Amino acid sequence: MKSVAIIGAQWGDEGKGKLTDLLAEKSDLVVRYQGGHNAGHTIWVNGQKTVLHVIPSGILHKHCLSVIGHGVVLEPQNFFNELKNINSITKVTPDNLKVSSSATVITSYHRLLDAARESQGPEKIGTTGKGIGPAYEDKVSRRGIKVKDLLDKDTLIRRLSSGFAEKAILFKHLYQIDIPSIDEEVERLYQYGIQMKDFVTDTFSLIDESARSGKKVLYEGAQGILLDIDYGTYPYVTSSSTAMAGIFTGAGLPQGQLDEVIGVAKAYTTRVGEGPFPTELFDEIGATLQKKGNEIGATTGRKRRCGWLDLPLLRYAIKCSKLTSVALTKVDILSGLPELKVCYAYEIGGKVVDCAYPGINLYQAKPLYREFKSFEDDFTSAPSKEFNEYLEYIESQLGIPVGIYAFGPDRNQIKMRTDFF
Ligand code: IMP
Repeated sequence: MKSVAIIGAQWGDEGKGKLTDLLAEKSDLVVRYQGGHNAGHTIWVNGQKTVLHVIPSGILHKHCLSVIGHGVVLEPQNFFNELKNINSITKVTPDNLKVSSSATVITSYHRLLDAARESQGPEKIGTTGKGIGPAYEDKVSRRGIKVKDLLDKDTLIRRLSSGFAEKAILFKHLYQIDIPSIDEEVERLYQYGIQMKDFVTDTFSLIDESARSGKKVLYEGAQGILLDIDYGTYPYVTSSSTAMAGIFTGAGLPQGQLDEVIGVAKAYTTRVGEGPFPTELFDEIGATLQKKGNEIGATTGRKRRCGWLDLPLLRYAIKCSKLTSVALTKVDILSGLPELKVCYAYEIGGKVVDCAYPGINLYQAKPLYREFKSFEDDFTSAPSKEFNEYLEYIESQLGIPVGIYAFGPDRNQIKMRTDFF
């Protein structure tokens, strides 16, 4: 196989980082194509934790080239903080990390606007507060700043000034907050540009040439399909294309297709921020999943909402991104629970619905559950009959294999049932 994608099949936080890190071992390039430092990808190697936000999760592998594609929104200060943290583990140089000259820059104004809207706006989305939405807005309205603009002061001044007058009015009169002057912001960003220069390149050509010369490319998604700006549970979504289509728009796919699209799903469901969540649990089991699964956001430190595995949502995710297999993570958290359920369909207005199509109202969906005999596996020996039954049920319901399952945070706590690459 030449190109494989790892995509979140739920509302993010499925454990994509550790699977990317594992498959990076056999890849030549690992490419991020959307989102920004709203993501939190946690990797454990030999008991040491690394949290990545915008830098691809292949970075811990020396042989592998990590690429930040043009669909990403990049906040320079976070980028260098992250680099500093990684450099304490392994030296990162422009030879193993490349940033697209066409990626969009998140400025101070974007971060402040995101925070102001969340604290003072009429409708709270529960964003990560990193400025992601406002940066994508400027990109789409053609007032965004590209990474290449950081390298040329005159262009930077011109681009940053475009739309500033409008923003300044909002900040002053609507939100009543102080913002840095254009001069301050230009100077701050320009200094980052100088530091970033050697990492910056035309990543589209780089991916194109690499793929054509037979290199193996792994695309790493951030967030999850249900947070996609078009496919997700709008308006409680992020502002990028988290589904497979984001690869085409945010990085480029030279062969025109992917050999494998792995949808990563937790063995239960979690969500941070606002929005519908049919299988959400408000009882003791929900609290146990949150605690045992350590369900706390890697980026914001917020507690995640928890519920049972939701197959109608996964069926929808499969259709949105043409998923070819599922990687089921955190199965160890379910082991030994007093009860075990999987939602196989919803009842809505007296009808049974088995796919969470966008036309249905998820707030009205009553989950229908299949109950399982709990498994007690510690995953050090062959899987129990109960665990196998549970996996087989999921596969038969989804119609695609569970190619991987993960039973702990470390690299060696992942079972590959299929060989990728
Ligand atoms: P934003 O991406 O910061 O604009 O946040 C929009 C929505 O996406 C909020 O509900 C966030 O909690 C959610 N979100 C963004 N990034 C992640 C992530 O990496 N994991 C889970 N949820 C996320």
